[in-house]
Amino acid sequence: MKRVLAIACVLSLAAVGTALAAIGSEADYSAAMKEVGSTNGALGKAIASSSATDAAAASAKLEALFKDVNAYWTAKKVDDATTASASAIAAAQAISKAVAANDMAAATEARTKLGATCMACHTAHREKTPEGGWKMK
Ligand code: HEC
Repeated sequence: MKRVLAIACVLSLAAVGTALAAIGSEADYSAAMKEVGSTNGALGKAIASSSATDAAAASAKLEALFKDVNAYWTAKKVDDATTASASAIAAAQAISKAVAANDMAAATEARTKLGATCMACHTAHREKTPEGGWKMK
């Protein structure tokens, strides 16, 4: 049992470690956003199926990713994006707290707030490329 816990611990540290690699370029940023997208999808599924363990892992990862995103915009001195990413961190923390209390209704509500931060920043700073992908504006 102890050994299983130790392995789980190492794995979750590895996941956080990946998320904490600083975003240095637009390519890194795009990779981070793709991870935000898939993790947010996994979070929605975990909350809908009341899987607290999976939801906790996803919200912790989103928090770490948005800390990187926040550091990126802070360094670029883009105020509204800095604020939106700070709100995303706060929403991820609220989700973690709700999930820890096994309150999936509160987790859903906090995830709606998280979604509003995605929208706000995308409207201001994301545009479609002719190839159908996304880039910064
Ligand atoms: C602080 C600003 C900001 C926030 C908050 C934000 N995004 Fe993004 N996102 C961007 C920008 C800028 C791009 C375009 C850059 C790119 O994709 O190269 C982007 C692109 C994306 C992409 C496309 C990635 C690609 O290149 O294919 C996805 C998916 C995405 N975001 C998901 C999300 C989700 C889900 C949330 C909320 C949980 C979110 N984002 C919150 C700024 C933000």
